[in-house]
Amino acid sequence: MQGLFISFEGLDGAGKTTQVQLLTDLLISSGHKVTVTREPGGTPLGDKIRTLLLDLANSEMCAETEALLYAAARAQHVAQVIAPALARGEIVITDRYTDSTVVYQGAARTLNKNQLEALNEFAVKGVMPDLTILLDAEVALLQSRLAGRGECDRIEQEDVKFHEAVRQGFLALAARHSRIKVVPALGEQSDVQAAIATVVRQFLKERRI
Ligand SMILES: Nc1ncnc2c1ncn2[C@@H]1O[C@H](COP(=O)(O)OP(=O)(O)OP(=O)(O)O)[C@@H](O)[C@H]1O
Ligand SMILES: [Mg+2]
Repeated sequence: MQGLFISFEGLDGAGKTTQVQLLTDLLISSGHKVTVTREPGGTPLGDKIRTLLLDLANSEMCAETEALLYAAARAQHVAQVIAPALARGEIVITDRYTDSTVVYQGAARTLNKNQLEALNEFAVKGVMPDLTILLDAEVALLQSRLAGRGECDRIEQEDVKFHEAVRQGFLALAARHSRIKVVPALGEQSDVQAAIATVVRQFLKERRI
């Protein structure tokens, strides 16, 4: 028995957490068993690593350390949460996964992408999403959405150029991988939700799930 693995990707403020919850509710109401999780984190050990990664006090963290900490949290996440849930035949939905590393540490921090892909592979041992929803919107719109949310974390407080590189990095990745479906994230939450539901329903139909 092998379940189905869906990841959500996109910039901060794109609506990943909102839409992960809405999709989860939809799938559960259709009778599916769903495990919802997020990165960095998803396990007690991973949540400790998340705190290190997002803490503004860790301004001295070099890009390599950052990449390795994300990978460490991800390895634990796969071993402890994702792989067991897939083995139970569940649908697993994660808020961020390997594509975030390729884009944030590769496109934005400019680490070597091949090395990052190899690091991802080492961490996940072949456990890759069947489907990835990339929520895409202009950086300026997302920054205005987040403006009311108080203090930014260590990644969110990067400049517009960094976030623009992230956006373009995600779009470039989507052009290379057919599993990544770009969903515009600028409309109302209910419109974005409907667009995601269409993509996921089509996918489940193709897989006869
Ligand atoms: N389609 C939308 N239109 C307007 N506001 C939205 C929409 N989707 C989400 N929001 C709001 O934007 C903010 C960010 O949404 P959310 O936390 O879901 O994004 P995120 O991608 O998970 O961001 P982060 O990466 O920072 O966790 C929230 O306040 C949310 O209520
Ligand atoms: Mg979120």
